[in-house]
Amino acid sequence: MSYRFISAEEAASFVNNGDNVGFSGFTPAGSPKVVTKAIAAKAISEHNAGREFKIGMITGASTGDSLDGELARADAVKFRVPYQGNSDMRNNLNTGKTAYVDMHLSSLPQELRYGFLGKINVAILEVCDVTESGELVLTSGVGISPTISKLADIIILELNKRHPAHIKGLHDIYEPLDPPYRREIPVYQPSDRIGNPVLKVDPAKIVGIVETNEPDQVGGFAPADEVTTAVGDNVANFLVGEMKAGRIPASFLPIQSGVGNIANAVLGSLGSNPDIPAFQMYTEVIQDAVIDLMRKGDVKFASGCSLTISPDVLTSVYKDWDFFKDKLVLRPSEISNSPEVARRLGLITINTALEADIFGNVNSTHVLGTKMMNGIGGSGDFTRNAYLSIFTCPSVAKGGKISAIVPMVSHQDHNEHSVKVLITELGVADLRGKSPIQRAQCIIENCVHADYKQLMWDYLKLSKGGHTPHSLAQGHALHLEFMASGDMRNTRY
Ligand code: COA
Repeated sequence: MSYRFISAEEAASFVNNGDNVGFSGFTPAGSPKVVTKAIAAKAISEHNAGREFKIGMITGASTGDSLDGELARADAVKFRVPYQGNSDMRNNLNTGKTAYVDMHLSSLPQELRYGFLGKINVAILEVCDVTESGELVLTSGVGISPTISKLADIIILELNKRHPAHIKGLHDIYEPLDPPYRREIPVYQPSDRIGNPVLKVDPAKIVGIVETNEPDQVGGFAPADEVTTAVGDNVANFLVGEMKAGRIPASFLPIQSGVGNIANAVLGSLGSNPDIPAFQMYTEVIQDAVIDLMRKGDVKFASGCSLTISPDVLTSVYKDWDFFKDKLVLRPSEISNSPEVARRLGLITINTALEADIFGNVNSTHVLGTKMMNGIGGSGDFTRNAYLSIFTCPSVAKGGKISAIVPMVSHQDHNEHSVKVLITELGVADLRGKSPIQRAQCIIENCVHADYKQLMWDYLKLSKGGHTPHSLAQGHALHLEFMASGDMRNTRY
């Protein structure tokens, strides 16, 4: 092979202060892991020498600690886009060290192509195989790899031997043309393949290959507890009711499920419910629970952007490749999260709210309206375009000191027009076909914790009329009370 095999340090020498760097992967799955540490070390040594060193960091979604964590701790990131989930990076975003552009994941590739985030200088991609002609087999995540490899001046590869080359065929690489030449994305079933199993890049751009054997830094999930199980069971029972009412066909509809412990518990409940038939997924992140459900026959097929599964489970999937190879496909985030496809397939989408308000608006991102948690991720791509968009959350956080349902959200990611159903461990609020006041009554009756119910009813009485009965003076009284006394239950209007 004519490519140069280089050290991570030499690879980092290609990255200069001020460069915009695009990284492969989606979540820790498929993200580069060793060149990133060398870039962080270079940043620290440049800073120690009194020189500036910061890059623009562009990814498909969140990454592992060896990327977001290392670069954040080295204060090496001038801007970050489009999503993150790392505590050190979160700290930098909330203290102004790093500018953050929190955006819908599906729209990032197009915004990159139009240059809204500047020129991409370097693409760093994790692969498990590469040919002389520049055909790459990606690993456990795709993200924005097709777009950044096309736009970047140079490409650095991390060849990760932990992912066997026999997974060629797992990926379906397709990039739409920009308007006015764009056609429909021809995915009519979650299992449709529309692109190429390999990512084709210009081999002349590949400046070096770094060999690695690092696992994806995917953490395990907390086992389902009483609350997450109750949320999951409420979702499953609600969907069974929708099937019985004829609003979901007997063959079911494809599911999109968000990230985290609740999402994992919800999938477990769907799988164990005898009235829900084996279903397909058209989603972003394929989590551990999906693999478990596939083995049991409860999930027939999953289309996603990444296999965000713990290292042991991933190894077992690769070992049983004959079983899994025709049940999984990984696509670029522009396709896995495509609004067009989500609407066409009639997705049932299940995402998690940090807080929701009694009128059905959802905050997925900002704690107390100001501090960034992670980002909107794909939740907006799916929610706005779903057939049935569901949000779940426990009714309270921080041991009951915070009500997840408030009179007025402190930040809004998903609005009342897109949120169709809200589900907590206490019950289900079906908001379809309801006016603002009817939605408020439905949410308070079914989803609000007993400690907060009276506060919500009292809030409704404060309204001085109008279509949506708000009190602008008291809308954030619970948030202000939490900031003052540390417990929303002390609120008095
Ligand atoms: N106010 C303040 N803090 C709150 C809160 C609220 N209303 N609700 C929850 N929290 C805190 C929790 O106490 C917890 O804090 P800790 O980390 O200190 O323990 C933290 O927020 C996470 O809550 P948790 O209940 O563990 O939720 P999660 O892990 O399921 O994550 C989101 C929830 C909303 C943060 C996460 O789903 C997310 O980032 N969503 C946006 C992106 C998305 O939906 N992507 C999927 C699309 S495919």
